Amino acid sequence: MCGIFGYVGSENASPILARGLKNLEYRGYDSVGIATVSTRLEIRKGVGKIDDAKERLRLEEARGNVGIGHTRWATHGTVTAENSHPHTDCRDEIAIIHNGIIENYYEIKKRLLERGHRFSSETDSEVIAHLIEDNLSNRGGAASSNGSSFEHACVRAFQELRGSFAVLAVRQGEDKIVAVRKDSPLVVGLAENGTFFASDVAPFLEWTKDVVYLENHDLVVADRAGVRFFDQDFAEVKRPVSTVEWDLEEARKGNFDHFMLKEITEQAETIQRACVQDMAVVERIASMIRSGFGVFFIACGSSYHACLTGSYLFSKVANLHVNVVLASEFENYEHFLTDRTLVFAVSQSGETADVLEAVRAAKRRGSRVVSITNVMGSSLSREGDELLLMNSGPEICVLSTKTYTSQVVMMALLVCSLKGDPEECVQRVKGLYMDIYNLTSRSMRERLKDLARDLAGKDHIYMIGRGLQYTTALEAALKVKEVSYIHTEAFAGGELKHGPLALIEEGTPVFVFVSRDNEDRIVSNAQEVKARGGFVIGVSDWNSPVFDRWIKVPDCGDLNPVIQAIPMQVLAYELAIQKNLDPDKPRNLAKSVTVL
Ligand code: G6P
Repeated sequence: MCGIFGYVGSENASPILARGLKNLEYRGYDSVGIATVSTRLEIRKGVGKIDDAKERLRLEEARGNVGIGHTRWATHGTVTAENSHPHTDCRDEIAIIHNGIIENYYEIKKRLLERGHRFSSETDSEVIAHLIEDNLSNRGGAASSNGSSFEHACVRAFQELRGSFAVLAVRQGEDKIVAVRKDSPLVVGLAENGTFFASDVAPFLEWTKDVVYLENHDLVVADRAGVRFFDQDFAEVKRPVSTVEWDLEEARKGNFDHFMLKEITEQAETIQRACVQDMAVVERIASMIRSGFGVFFIACGSSYHACLTGSYLFSKVANLHVNVVLASEFENYEHFLTDRTLVFAVSQSGETADVLEAVRAAKRRGSRVVSITNVMGSSLSREGDELLLMNSGPEICVLSTKTYTSQVVMMALLVCSLKGDPEECVQRVKGLYMDIYNLTSRSMRERLKDLARDLAGKDHIYMIGRGLQYTTALEAALKVKEVSYIHTEAFAGGELKHGPLALIEEGTPVFVFVSRDNEDRIVSNAQEVKARGGFVIGVSDWNSPVFDRWIKVPDCGDLNPVIQAIPMQVLAYELAIQKNLDPDKPRNLAKSVTVL
């Protein structure tokens, strides 16, 4: 959830850290901090977003060619300057930044307190700095031909940690960064001007596209001379260098005010790219589905909604039942897994902890895993038996927009492959190009801005649909609530009279998602709402007298979940703007949830 960034090389580190952290802010943003090493260790940290902190803490004035930086999303300990990273040892000579959770921090802290260490934060992370210090003073970290005493002290400290962690450590007087990764993301960028560390590749794309994706438990030592990789026993290992295919421009806002709007607008293209798959792999996965005994889709958030949409497509179009389970609930279903079960793990980031935990459980039981992710090199991209990439390019806004529609398209592609005709899906997706272009056009945005003005003062919004339109309603409600903070909830149309109708009062806004194949039933649900004074907003290709407002979308049959989600994304964006909220960084949320 936090973002970590490090640099060692020929340039002054602090301006590079400030730029890198800005690009990482979507991972967490309640506090920020850096440590640089010149003749002494310099720490600057505090509460707030990077832009405010940059000025206030004068981040770019810190000196030294070695530096580490952190943007925090609080887990252990409240949002205070003391709890923000970097954390230091008792003498302020060692600094660390950490992403993840140290599960055994309490016992380590207790032992270190007894040994006289003084702690200044409530975090689990701080134990790492003291543990390194303790190892150094114990001479447990004596230098060897294989490394300095600092490196050995770090290795011993890292070996003691349980939980998930990506850690960067620096020490006064040492021109190097020592890093480790276990179950938390960390990638290394190799550039002419030095070595970069980050939670993902996007923040260092402006310096390099050459990257090393670390294995679990890898240790890294980087100094001005270069970088070396080690396994957990500190034996040197080789790691391959890959080239990132993402474009720097894709990770920038360009002419857009916000990443959210940019990413919404990209969808005419990104859904086409979702179809560009190695068809031999798609066919192999289709035959795994056919021969498997039990298929599970596991995911969180918007990815979960895409899987739910997929389950309707599998059922309707391919006559196949698949199970969809929230990754965080998957432990309740694990006992069904066998070596004949097929598990699809779907995650934009490929780093969502709940998803990875479910994948590991599936693998322990011998099930085969298909990973669907947007991030090459992410943990998920490496842990499955088969891999499909979304090809959406970097998604920076905390809310998923373009990757959601890509996931839906990939579900449709799999379903068509099961029927033996993937090309049908490819052609139909091509046919959506102009529709999406129109749905994200300026005139459409103006209409949705109007509607957003009317809705911005509401406390509650409801959404209903049936079948594929129900899963669309779920995703639309998630978008609106995440970014506007208006309580928004979706219901299956048929469930209205089993409870939710009690919520409808004079003027309560209710969105109704309509498709040609179930219009009668959902329109009568809309009438039930109208009869109780509800304000009905139809999302459909025709206008009904029951609608008070109408969002016109073409009817695209099984691809309605793509086409109907898009105006709702735009509406959510406009609501945030109306309410003067930052659509890219909703409060309390993080893009990549790397803790359980
Ligand atoms: C977070 C994000 C959501 C996202 C969910 C799952 O909660 O804020 O936008 O849908 O994680 O993320 P994933 O990367 O696994 O798709």
